This record gives sequence, C-alpha cells and structure tokens, in this order.
Amino acid sequence: MKEQELQLILASALQAITDAKTLSELQQVRDTYLAKKGQVNQLMGNLKVLPPAERSSYGKAVNDLKMALISAFDQAQIVLEAAALNEKLTSEKIDITLPGYVHQAGAKNPFFTIQDELCAIFLGLGYTIAEGPEIESDHFNFELLNIPQDHPARDMQDSFYIDENTLLRTHTSPVQAHVMQNADGQPIKVVCPGKVYRRDDDDATHSHQFGQLEGLLIDEGIHLGHLYATLQLFVQAMFGEKREIRFRSSYFPFTEPSVEVDVSCANCGGKGCSMCKGSGWIEILGGGMVHPNVLKMSGYDPDKMSGFAFGIGLERVAMLRYGIDDIRKFYQNDVRFIHQFNKR
Ligand code: PHE
Repeated sequence: MKEQELQLILASALQAITDAKTLSELQQVRDTYLAKKGQVNQLMGNLKVLPPAERSSYGKAVNDLKMALISAFDQAQIVLEAAALNEKLTSEKIDITLPGYVHQAGAKNPFFTIQDELCAIFLGLGYTIAEGPEIESDHFNFELLNIPQDHPARDMQDSFYIDENTLLRTHTSPVQAHVMQNADGQPIKVVCPGKVYRRDDDDATHSHQFGQLEGLLIDEGIHLGHLYATLQLFVQAMFGEKREIRFRSSYFPFTEPSVEVDVSCANCGGKGCSMCKGSGWIEILGGGMVHPNVLKMSGYDPDKMSGFAFGIGLERVAMLRYGIDDIRKFYQNDVRFIHQFNKR
C-alpha cells in the first residue's frame, strides 16, 4: 500500500462524508471506514506483510488517515445534529393559540361560609370559640341541661343512640356545660358552632342532621336586655341595618325565661309576604336566661352570677340570607348549587 493509495481512500471517504445527508447515512459511512472490520483496520492488518523497515512509516500514515477521518466524521456529525434539531423545532412547533384546559376550582359550601361569618360577627363582639364532641353522654346532652330522665322535652329530640347513655348530640347546648365545668366559676363569653343530629322529618325545611351555633355569656348582673341587644347586633350584621328582632316567650328546660327570636322579613320589610307567611316576621333562633339549676350543676352560684344562652340554626340563617328554598341542598354536594356561592 502506497501513500498515494491512502490519499485516494481519504479523498473518497471525505466525499462520502460530504454526501451523507442524514445522521444514519453518516453512521453507515463511519462503519465502512472505522468499524472493527472497516477499511482502516484492514489497512492496519497489512502491516504484518510489509518488510520491517517500511512498517513504521506505513503505520504512521494509516494512523494519520484514521485521525483525519475521525475529525471529519465528528464535524459532519455536529452539522447534521444541528440540522436535525432545527428540523424538529420547525416541524413540532406548538400552536399557542389553541384553547387550554379549564380546571374547575372547588367551592365552599354556603353552610361553612355562614358558619364562618357568624363566628366572625361574635369574635368581633369579644366572644371566643369553643367546641365539644358530636358523640355525647346522656349526662351532658340532657341531665346537665335540666332535662332529667322521663322529662317530656326529651321526646322532641329523641335521637340516635349508640348505647343507653351515649348518643349523637341533639343540640350544641351540651357545650355550654363543658365550658362551664372548665371555667371554674369565672365569667364566660363563647360561641360553639357544630353539627347536631335529631330524629326528624327529612323535607325542605327539616333534616336529621343540621348545624347550630350556641352562644353563652355568663357574668355578674347579666339580664334579658343584654341578650336582646346582642341578638339585635348579630341580626343587623348578618341581614342588614334595617332588620329588627322581637322576642316571643317560649320554653326550654335549660333557660328561664325562654324566648323564640324572630327577625323582621327582609323580603317585605314587615308588611307580610309569602316568605314570612304573611306575618312580617321569620323565626331564626331560641334563647333565654341560663336556668339557675344549670348554673348550679356546673359550679356557678346563681345568686352571684347570671347569663344568657342562645342557639342559632345555621342552615336557617343561610337559607334566609341566600334565598335557598330546600335544606337538603346543603348536603347533596351538587356542584351546580355550590358554585353559585363561589363568586362572592
Ligand atoms: N338547644 C336549643 C335547641 O336546640 C336552642 C337553645 C339554645 C335554646 C340555647 C335556648 C338556649 O332547640
């Protein structure tokens, strides 16, 4: 093999490299020359048949050829890779004018919106928030609230018993007793939001599960006027400055005197309409002065301290506030319903 022939091989290899239009074509050419059984290794194989004196210069010449080829291949590779990338970038261009996916965000159930608003109003009046268990003992749910065994008032709340002495609480009033027992005879000012459970009809205005917010204030010299003023403030904050309240006498075993509280109808301003069934007033809560027996049972001296308590139905307030006509809508998780309250 002469130097000249090596030059010819180099020339034709360079030509083949230039002619390769794709990376895979280039790889084929590279294999032809540089693979294990490629031309360059074959040329090296000729070494052993040469006379020893020529071997060194021949070996060097083949090696130079190999180096020249490798660098030519590498350069061609860079050029073809860049071309392939450009080709990809233009052919796979993203059309940013296509509409994207709209992800629907969840919405808060209006039940919790109202619960939060109620708490915020009372926090603003200096109340703190207390909570109690939903699974309650007979003792706390009834006895400590002046509703002994066989008291007829139990019938109205006859409920979900777990065993003879344990039931799902029928109102948030037992939290009153929990708070009093932990307060060591000191003044109290709390609201207690939560779920309650009762045997009840399941219709547009009744549900076996609903929410209440209990209020309890105990101090020296507290009287019914304080309850009136507090509830008047709450009603105006929730339903607007123009709303008024009225007390009707009522009965609860744990308050004396007891009242039902009505709010003037927002729909007709008190004239009478279908929403208030012609009366101009809508009942929203029950309350009264904490019964002396209840104070005594939880460690308070009724001759020294007095207090008021009230229980507000959460769904009732939400229904009036938003004009919702069926209590069951709060629990059905129909997004068409819930999303209406998302835009506030
Ligand atoms: N616990 C009563 C109910 O569920 C409401 C209430 C609370 C009444 C506090 C008076 C005082 O109907």
